[in-house]
Amino acid sequence: MRRTLAAGNWKMNGDAAMLDALQQLQAPGGDNAPDILICPPSTLLLQAVAASENSPVRIGGQDCHTAASGAHTGDVSAAMIKATGASAVLVGHSERRADHGETNSDVRAKVEAAWGADLLAILCIGESEAERMGDDTLDIIAAQLEASLPDGATGTNTVIAYEPIWAIGTGRVPTLEQIVETHDMIRARLEARFATQGAAIRILYGGSVKPSNAAEIFTAENVDGALVGGASLKVADIQPIIDALAAS
Ligand code: PGA
Repeated sequence: MRRTLAAGNWKMNGDAAMLDALQQLQAPGGDNAPDILICPPSTLLLQAVAASENSPVRIGGQDCHTAASGAHTGDVSAAMIKATGASAVLVGHSERRADHGETNSDVRAKVEAAWGADLLAILCIGESEAERMGDDTLDIIAAQLEASLPDGATGTNTVIAYEPIWAIGTGRVPTLEQIVETHDMIRARLEARFATQGAAIRILYGGSVKPSNAAEIFTAENVDGALVGGASLKVADIQPIIDALAAS
């Protein structure tokens, strides 16, 4: 059985005062308790790790460079993220792909860098609105998965986050049917490529997850949690999403 995961992506938001939230988040009890991960900006990682001590919250980065060190002004390596005490890193988020021109092969190298530093890689994939309208979603997602996920993925080193670009920060979400169809296809591809490890890799849905829609999304068999942007900035919004996951 896959342990569920509620992951929050603060993006370029948050300050030291917001780290109090890390102590307030509660892990629901019981067999179904989800893992909780918060990804603050890199400048807050060290403080976030300290602030989440003795709490169920784990800390992750939002991106890492492909190289371990070197002349890459402004970047951070996976090893640097690991050294803060963080345990995971997002890679290939659509905002990175759009703002920084990251390609599938860049993202693949970042997954390898994350693994090399012993970080859980949360690989983000998703279609644009034009691709969705053109009925190309499944092909696009399959191609992204193939090209950006290296050989060697396991249930412990990798999480996939399916995030339709048009659903991120817009308040729009795919229908449950569309989510099920895409997640089932991702699961089938993972199992075909990685056998039992493919069955163990968690697949998160991301894009306008809110307390009001989380429970329905979590009814899907191959939705193993959520990657949450805007609603992760307030305890009052992310806690009910964590609770909905525990109840699913
Ligand atoms: P959102 O962002 O929840 O604000 O739509 C999700 C994400 O980009 O990971």
